[in-house]
Amino acid sequence: MGLQRIIVTNAKGGCGKTTITTNIASHYARQGKMVRLFDHDTQGSSLSWIKRRPESAAEIVGVDASKNSDHRLTRSWQMRVPPETDIAIIDSPAGTDITELTMLFQQNDSVLIPVLPSPIDIHATAHFIKELLTTGSVRQRMIRLAVVANRVRKNTLMYHALERFLFSLEIPFISSLRDTQLYTRAIELGVGVQEIPTVRSKTDREQWAPIFRWLETPVVTETARITPLFNRHEQ
Ligand SMILES: Nc1ncnc2c1ncn2[C@@H]1O[C@H](COP(=O)(O)OP(=O)(O)O)[C@@H](O)[C@H]1O
Ligand SMILES: [Mg+2]
Repeated sequence: MGLQRIIVTNAKGGCGKTTITTNIASHYARQGKMVRLFDHDTQGSSLSWIKRRPESAAEIVGVDASKNSDHRLTRSWQMRVPPETDIAIIDSPAGTDITELTMLFQQNDSVLIPVLPSPIDIHATAHFIKELLTTGSVRQRMIRLAVVANRVRKNTLMYHALERFLFSLEIPFISSLRDTQLYTRAIELGVGVQEIPTVRSKTDREQWAPIFRWLETPVVTETARITPLFNRHEQ
């Protein structure tokens, strides 16, 4: 398998971009994949998470791709991905200009959009997705988009409102991650939730499984897309 690029983004802050980025990075690093994490956020939360990683944990290479990073390096140099990389994962800051964000997009990227169950987050995300879908570059470059509900408490009115919103979108709603201190703890420890030794949480594994399945679903190629499902003459 060649390089896979994953971008975690939403214009809204605090929705779980860094949490999802770091958990995906740790999952693939644990599988022995060469993971490179590009942190575009000037707060550098993903990079400091990598610095806190225990020595025994699978290696993840961090790249400071934020505006604070060394200006002698050009953007394209920062974004250079060495050929041995299996997974390039990009953590983006809140409030990124949509044009600037879509400039990052490359052919066949997978874009994950976390959303919290709150009216402000739902409105901000609806606007963000609409902007993304109307920029054109998403369709032209065959970018795959999906949403993930985060910090979910099932059976709450707000979660039902979020679900209704997510199912109304044109893009797939692939999973809901529960609200648990484990995520905060994992960030502190420089690990993913599945790397916390005492935790063998079935619930979290089940909630992450559809996300990895979606990420690993082969991208539909141009030729495959135009192949008709049935040959009319055979019906
Ligand atoms: N599923 C979750 N359960 C509990 N806390 C979470 C969850 N996801 C994120 N958080 C916490 O919410 C805060 C914001 O998450 P973060 O990933 O930093 O968001 P962003 O990168 O989008 O700003 C952090 O304190 C994080 O630990
Ligand atoms: Mg962040």
